[in-house]
Amino acid sequence: MVSTLTRIIRFIHGYRTIALLALIAIVAGTVAELYAPQVLRTLIDDGIIGGDRDQIWRSAGWLTALAVFSGLARFAYGYLSARVSHGAAFGLRKEIFAKLQKLSFSYYDRVQTGQLMTRVTSDVDLVRDFIGGGMVQMISAVLMLVITAAILLSMNLWLALIALSVIPVTLLILLLFVSRLGPMFKSFQERLSRLNGIFGENISGVRIVRTFTAEDSETDRYRRANQDLLDSGLAIRNSIANAFPLLFSVGSFGVVLITWVGAVMIVKRTLSVGELVAFTSYLVLLLQPLFMLGFGAQQIARASAGAERIFEILDAKIDVAEVDDAIVLPEVQGRITFEDVTLQYPGDARDILKGLTFSIETKTTVAVVGSTGSGKTSLVNLIPRYYDPSEGVVAIDGHDVRTLKLDFLRRHIAMVMQDPVLFSGTVSENISYGRPEATQDQIEAVARMAQAHGFISALSKGYMTHIGERGVTLSGGQRQRISIARALLVDPKILIMDDSTSALDSRTESALIEDLDDLMRTRTTIIIGQRPSALARADKVLLIEDGRIADEGTHQELLERNCTYAEILATPPGAVPHELPSFCDMSGLEGRDA
Ligand SMILES: Nc1ncnc2c1ncn2[C@@H]1O[C@H](COP(=O)(O)OP(=O)(O)OP(=O)(O)O)[C@@H](O)[C@H]1O
Ligand SMILES: [Mg+2]
Repeated sequence: MVSTLTRIIRFIHGYRTIALLALIAIVAGTVAELYAPQVLRTLIDDGIIGGDRDQIWRSAGWLTALAVFSGLARFAYGYLSARVSHGAAFGLRKEIFAKLQKLSFSYYDRVQTGQLMTRVTSDVDLVRDFIGGGMVQMISAVLMLVITAAILLSMNLWLALIALSVIPVTLLILLLFVSRLGPMFKSFQERLSRLNGIFGENISGVRIVRTFTAEDSETDRYRRANQDLLDSGLAIRNSIANAFPLLFSVGSFGVVLITWVGAVMIVKRTLSVGELVAFTSYLVLLLQPLFMLGFGAQQIARASAGAERIFEILDAKIDVAEVDDAIVLPEVQGRITFEDVTLQYPGDARDILKGLTFSIETKTTVAVVGSTGSGKTSLVNLIPRYYDPSEGVVAIDGHDVRTLKLDFLRRHIAMVMQDPVLFSGTVSENISYGRPEATQDQIEAVARMAQAHGFISALSKGYMTHIGERGVTLSGGQRQRISIARALLVDPKILIMDDSTSALDSRTESALIEDLDDLMRTRTTIIIGQRPSALARADKVLLIEDGRIADEGTHQELLERNCTYAEILATPPGAVPHELPSFCDMSGLEGRDA
């Protein structure tokens, strides 16, 4: 917990001056408050009991001035500490986001959006509250304790010793309190994350929930998580509720004891009434920092629970990292080679790709065909290093991709993903996502090639139509075409299309492949899918079966010699009307879903 807290403090580094001013403000305010009882003592002993009218006026003036001063100091403290704490929260959010931009895909395979959101919002707030309140308060509380103790000791040794005996007891209670609360707060934040995770999944998956009429079971799942959170919140509340009365009783017991001993001393004339009043005022000032320590302790427990969860993100291992001496190439030709490549996904023991060796020559088009789950997407994911192979080498122009600078590598590869995501924004903005400086003409040219110009022009505001969240919703095929246009605009040396035409009718698809012909001649293209026009156009077809290359050749060659290939192609969607070679066993086809 200590190391977590020191790490939090690093985040206020940029605000050292303001933090120091805030500390000075609260110390000044505290000192002013501590001085007031001394004025009160003179007021009573010299002014009231001694009958000195001038002294009464002077003391009253002093008391007013002290009250105003300490009020101003507290105001300044509030203002300055907010600057520091919000600044630190700003820094934390910035670092989390920067880290999220660097974390590998394998990290996102494991976490839920809602969980991450909780960390960047609620957990950051816990840390902020501690910096803005708890931390400086703790410092000033300790300071106040020390000063008050010194004053009490100088005023009256015996009474002071009685008063100070309260401190160790209180500290012991606080220590127990914090060690119990820390884990409770952590569990509270975890439950909150889980709740938000379920919430997020239900928003993004609302169609699935409705389709499977799972509203009741989802509502129940949410209710249970919500109940867990409530239980945890109440348990914390109870724990705090139990600790504070205990602290109060210890404090009050001290006051009673001192008033009693003090009264005896006044009777014996070893103490003046003013002294006892001043003394008990200080006693209140002694109890105040003790309670402040209590509140601060609770905030420390909360903040360190939040901080631990934030640091889990900041410390997460980046699976795909750039090497220190990463290079850029003067020019990319686009020759791709796989050498004995094996892939296991992190945290999964299965070999998804098993010793793949093949090469794709510069400016050729390769089609990758295979049944679902055979590893096609996994294969192409290795080229832009979305994942790294567990064994073997993926190389571009003979350079292991792991030796290249990541942004250099990815700038030269455009990937149209299997389930494309568009951002909220206009159609134009979406197409020019990878090249924001592109002109409208360039945008339209790629949209035409991607067979998207027609439907975009028909939208109410054409290229300026807002899509995505709260905008026009597009069909699956329209989304695919916009994402193809987006990839084409980058003018990559390597173009990868992962089942990117699956939602298009075959006429549109043929037109698209035809229009892309010039483009495909000038770059390396990989097309995953089994559409006839693409297969016929490809220089080479790779047939993937269960993570292995089962066969490799032209479409015509495979069609003639490979039964699996012929079978895959004969399966809708996009079934190729053709005869299976006569030596193939046709019975396997009958059991398939058509
Ligand atoms: N991110 C991942 N983490 C762990 N396992 C994965 C991941 N992605 C895919 N897999 C597994 O790897 C195997 C191959 O998946 P892949 O997506 O490469 O298949 P595919 O050939 O593209 O299939 P499809 O034609 O359905 O798109 C599957 O068994 C899948 O469960
Ligand atoms: Mg796939």
